[in-house]
Amino acid sequence: PFCHGCLSAVRLHFEHFTVSSSRSHQVAMLGGHAELSCQLSPPQNAEHMNVGWYRDHYSQLVHVYEHRKKLSGKNTQNYVNRTVLLMDALGEGKMTLRIHNISVFDEGQYHCFFQDDDTYEEATTDLKVAALGMNIQINLQVSDTKDIIVECSSGGWFPQALMELRDSRGNVIPPSSKISSQDVAGLLHLKMSVLLKNNTHRSVTCCFHNPVTSQKKRAGIVLPGECLWLSFLFSSVRQTKYKIK
Ligand SMILES: *[C@@H]1O[C@H](CO)[C@@H](O)[C@H](O)[C@H]1NC(C)=O
Ligand SMILES: *[C@@H]1O[C@H](CO)[C@@H](O)[C@H](O)[C@H]1NC(C)=O
Ligand SMILES: *[C@@H]1O[C@H](CO)[C@@H](O)[C@H](O)[C@H]1NC(C)=O
Repeated sequence: PFCHGCLSAVRLHFEHFTVSSSRSHQVAMLGGHAELSCQLSPPQNAEHMNVGWYRDHYSQLVHVYEHRKKLSGKNTQNYVNRTVLLMDALGEGKMTLRIHNISVFDEGQYHCFFQDDDTYEEATTDLKVAALGMNIQINLQVSDTKDIIVECSSGGWFPQALMELRDSRGNVIPPSSKISSQDVAGLLHLKMSVLLKNNTHRSVTCCFHNPVTSQKKRAGIVLPGECLWLSFLFSSVRQTKYKIK
């Protein structure tokens, strides 16, 4: 307003800019969506610039516009029908990448860039993906020597959950084993087991805890007492498997 007729001078003054992302870290839930935003500083029109987002390397384009044309690259196929670049605020130097139907493989670093002639600046955002697993299944294996194997398992976790086993008084029972395996979708199937020799615990509780979201799943089971032991002995069952939801 103070300088009618010298817009080109103003433009020159603004040619140097920096780029910042609205958040350096972000968490998205599996199957949900993520919005990653970045912004020119000082705010200015970026409609004439080359803009976009890529993954770890520039060849892994997510959503890029060069000379107003959408480019595709090595990684674009993963994103082709799942991303939208919101550019309605590009006049103020702001753009937002929206990713739908988040999968485990979307986790990682995203670079956002603005390029205007010789000036190129970028900012990064780390996207973390989290998934709360399914209800814990507990299996019991009992022998006539009063040994009990308690096995807790659940699928659909990301990232690796913390697994814990406690007795009825809330004391931690150290597990004999903790195993995790990854399925084709990148989700983890977790299994924890403990061998209780000459058991004195009345019940045990398994707890799986997602460290990113602090969400938990818990399941408990009452262990066989004396009456049950007798019935096991009389029916001469050596190994029995319970499945409790
Ligand atoms: C994207 O959607 C189009 C039209 O619905 C479809 O033809 C194409 O196969 C899809 N591409 C991928 C990679 O899913
Ligand atoms: C979301 O992605 C998964 C694979 O990651 C696919 O199996 C599922 O069909 C997709 N859902 C939608 C609504 O596109
Ligand atoms: C099992 O525990 C009981 C008491 O809890 C004890 O008297 C017994 O000796 C133990 N047996 C073995 C084999 O450790």
